[in-house]
Amino acid sequence: MTPSRRRFLAGLGSAGAALATSSWLDAIGYAQTARRAARALIQQPGVGADFDRRVLGAFLEHLGRAVYTGVYQPGSPLADSKGFRTDVVREVKELGAPIIRYPGGNFVSGYNWLDGVGPKEQRPTVLERAWNSMETNQFGTNEFVEWCRMVGSEPLLGMNFGTGTAEMAVAYVEYCNLERGTKWSDLRRSHGYEKPHNVRYWCLGNEMDGPWQIGQMQAREYGRKARDAARQMRVIDGNLQLIACGSSGTNMPQYLIWDREVLEECYDQVDGISLHAYYGNTQALTRNSTARYLAMNLDMDRQIREIAAVCDYVQGLRKSSKRLWLSFDEWNVWYRARSGDAVNGRRQFAPKLLEEVYNLEDALLVGGFVNTLLRNAERVRVGCLAQLINVIAPLVTNDTGVLRQSTFFPYAWALRYARGRVLDMRVESDTYPITAAGLQADFARNDQVPFVDLVATLDSQNGQACVLMLNRDLEGEREIALEWRDVTPTRVLTCETLTGQDLKAFNTFEQPKRVAPQRLEPPAAGARMTFKLPPRSYTVAQLATM
Ligand code: AHR
Repeated sequence: MTPSRRRFLAGLGSAGAALATSSWLDAIGYAQTARRAARALIQQPGVGADFDRRVLGAFLEHLGRAVYTGVYQPGSPLADSKGFRTDVVREVKELGAPIIRYPGGNFVSGYNWLDGVGPKEQRPTVLERAWNSMETNQFGTNEFVEWCRMVGSEPLLGMNFGTGTAEMAVAYVEYCNLERGTKWSDLRRSHGYEKPHNVRYWCLGNEMDGPWQIGQMQAREYGRKARDAARQMRVIDGNLQLIACGSSGTNMPQYLIWDREVLEECYDQVDGISLHAYYGNTQALTRNSTARYLAMNLDMDRQIREIAAVCDYVQGLRKSSKRLWLSFDEWNVWYRARSGDAVNGRRQFAPKLLEEVYNLEDALLVGGFVNTLLRNAERVRVGCLAQLINVIAPLVTNDTGVLRQSTFFPYAWALRYARGRVLDMRVESDTYPITAAGLQADFARNDQVPFVDLVATLDSQNGQACVLMLNRDLEGEREIALEWRDVTPTRVLTCETLTGQDLKAFNTFEQPKRVAPQRLEPPAAGARMTFKLPPRSYTVAQLATM
């Protein structure tokens, strides 16, 4: 431990020391205190680089109205000559998601990518079996890559490991990334795309452990297929970053075992492994308690630690020098539009599926997830908010425009303000108890939850810091004193909060600003800054440091 780090930890005093060995919270830098006011010591990490912005990515699946009427709606007065919705392009571009995963999700496990390329009038309409919808294939890989370039995002493509063969997965890479002179690269060129797309990040299938997945597999069977396909793909393009399918949730019966077995088969051929998680304020997950609900980003912290431990275990077994990174490529709140007609397209084109309406408490939790992803960014290289438009999404379209749901704001703040390095942080906070009784096993725990959850970044290029703060206290304001150790804020550039009386309030096209950011009076900039966080709030502060 460096002397400065020793001083940093010692600065926490006795409360921090008391919990250092006993609490899982210590692992994420938190200690319990009886004082009402919270305190955070912040300093630059001794080692490490800027976090990979891909951790703040998003997801677009051929599902419901995500692509059709969300992104692509030829004939709409809002569409450009290619059929792309210009209002959506504007919003997504402003949002600035660095990477977008496509085309699924469950959809990908029955998808023939060849159906979605070439002259549009020759593309077949097929019955899509994951969501029981009609798929016209008028939007496919080339349109997606073009759209990504328009909105300034990098594509992350998923491959069909359900009905698809390794051969067709490998051909997909050749179609997208090889310059010319082969069957698949020349097919792309004949489709009007002379230059290769150079897609670097690829998912080797989707949730292949799930009984709902087309072509569900056993772990070792999937691991061997992933290894074989990956080895061939690397012959085509040595620059690929390949993501193996991890467990599709912490409640899967084979959770962690699946991950271990898959990695025992394909560790050497992959770069990352996927994690997925959806959360909800339900009887089974939270006993409908908002206090428990707002602690759920700590369950995400835990999942990250558990999967990282499996990766490191297999690394040890394989005596490998390679350390895998994690791809949290599906995460969000999703519990209302999750059954019946909300998940059955009834053979319609662009049906209304998974159209979750997000309220204030959902937005606060999404802020918590952003904090968790950022504080784990050293390990989680890719993250995808699932999803981006219309389907469990921060953005919703109708025929006349786009609506920002409540969850848009915490995600947009992280994208806009969190840059550079994630700062080291030790937090002392008052806590409240959560209990296991009656909850689904993976969420059943007796623990102490800090009222305040925060993360900070520093972009030394432009000398700006960002602090994102969640106040889980449903009744009262909470103070948080930020003590800056080796960087001193000189000016507050932005300070906004998302809060309100009604945790269940949500935005509609008629009332689009019921849940919207408000200015928060910030403290004076300096080495010690005490923010007063409103009850049930998520707050961002952007600070100049030079
Ligand atoms: O995002 C919605 C669905 O959730 C995805 O298609 C699937 O991968 C997950 O189960």
